[in-house]
Amino acid sequence: MPDDAIVSLPVSGWSGPFDPALSRAAVGALEAGQVVLLPGLAFETLAEESGLLSPSLLDGDSKNISLDPATGRVGGAVAHSALLAAMLGRFARSADSLLRSLLAPYADTLRAARTSFRPAELARREYSPRQDDRRLHVDAFPSRPTGGDRILRLFSVLPQANAPREWRLGEAFETVAARLLPALPPRTPHRARLYAVIGLTKGVRTPYDQMMLALHDRMKLDSEYQRTASFTPRAFPPGSTWLCFTDQVPHAALSGHMMLEQTFHLPVRAMADPGRSPLRVLERLMGQTLA
Ligand code: SIN
Ligand code: FE
Repeated sequence: MPDDAIVSLPVSGWSGPFDPALSRAAVGALEAGQVVLLPGLAFETLAEESGLLSPSLLDGDSKNISLDPATGRVGGAVAHSALLAAMLGRFARSADSLLRSLLAPYADTLRAARTSFRPAELARREYSPRQDDRRLHVDAFPSRPTGGDRILRLFSVLPQANAPREWRLGEAFETVAARLLPALPPRTPHRARLYAVIGLTKGVRTPYDQMMLALHDRMKLDSEYQRTASFTPRAFPPGSTWLCFTDQVPHAALSGHMMLEQTFHLPVRAMADPGRSPLRVLERLMGQTLA
């Protein structure tokens, strides 16, 4: 993996305006499958929030605490607290304001989805292979089909963390897809409709969603791929923020704690170069329309 996996940009505040040249650099890097690192951008918590910065906040089975923007509901925590909801809400607004001005060309079509807080050390947990984000994968959401829309995520390690978040970044999407496509199971359109009817998925999985889930699963479950794929290790220090299209950039998160994350969706047509989207790459490789 070349060491151009990351582009570092000098951004030190959560709101703009930003130089249009900086916006172009950010959009170009993201669409090319690079991670945009904002090394000087920390999310500061308030003094009264210090009690929240602990893994004991998690209920027994959750790896994350999450805030659903549609309902304002906080999930995964032992008890609902107004303080916790306020911290997550403030992070969500900061991330939103940053991306709408840093990624100015996306401002009108970017949709904010879940916010998550990941207080626990991830290296110490047990996961089933499909749930195990320590294996290289691209993101695909089982219950929320995107129909081709992009998954753009912003991550920030709190300054109070005492370790970096250690990731691996894999090869270009097209390389991975071309390698693993022949091994993917056939699609099952009737099952996609059934899942939507019984409420297992929010909307019907398109052929694209089925391919992306199959690719996600294959990457994680294929030990030969995990053993032989090339990757670049990257450590994101406390007090730093980064973002990437996680449906495109193969990534694995090996260790770290006390991180906040905000998910966004973006329609393919809003991209400067839609041809770089996983949707268009898969369609090209397979010679058919997928969404
Ligand atoms: C992931 O999206 O795979 C997890 C990222 C992280 O928790 O650092
Ligand atoms: Fe992931």
